[in-house]
Amino acid sequence: MNIVVGSDHAGFELKEHIKKMLKDKGMKVDDQGTYSEESVDYPDYAKKVSEVVLRGEAVGILICGTGIGISMAANRHPGIRAALCENEFTARMARAHNDANILCMGGRVVGTALAESIVNTFLSTSFEGGRHARRVDKIER
Ligand code: RB5
Repeated sequence: MNIVVGSDHAGFELKEHIKKMLKDKGMKVDDQGTYSEESVDYPDYAKKVSEVVLRGEAVGILICGTGIGISMAANRHPGIRAALCENEFTARMARAHNDANILCMGGRVVGTALAESIVNTFLSTSFEGGRHARRVDKIER
């Protein structure tokens, strides 16, 4: 499974942490930036990551300060289902019921240990389909 990550300055530190965790597991990680804590605009990184996800190349992870702005921005890209998750339960449901293709988190909200667990849950949960597929199709239409 390939992963594409992106963040603004407020999510930079957590992005780096998650990137290392995924690489240590042997996963291929495409880092679309930002590459420092210099102030940037989160919609730019939501766009970069969304474009990679929409090409079918990877599952996305986006991080800003709260995860709110970057999830709002990502969800403006048709075909993107970005889910802001602050715990393992919502991470599991985001995949199982909503077929989310981007996980969003807040670097100022979740600690590194919780963030690792959220990412692992998100990446290891499959979409259940069935009645949930009908609902997801309605979002797309
Ligand atoms: C940046 O200061 C902050 O506003 C941003 O990272 C994010 O939390 C917006 O939703």
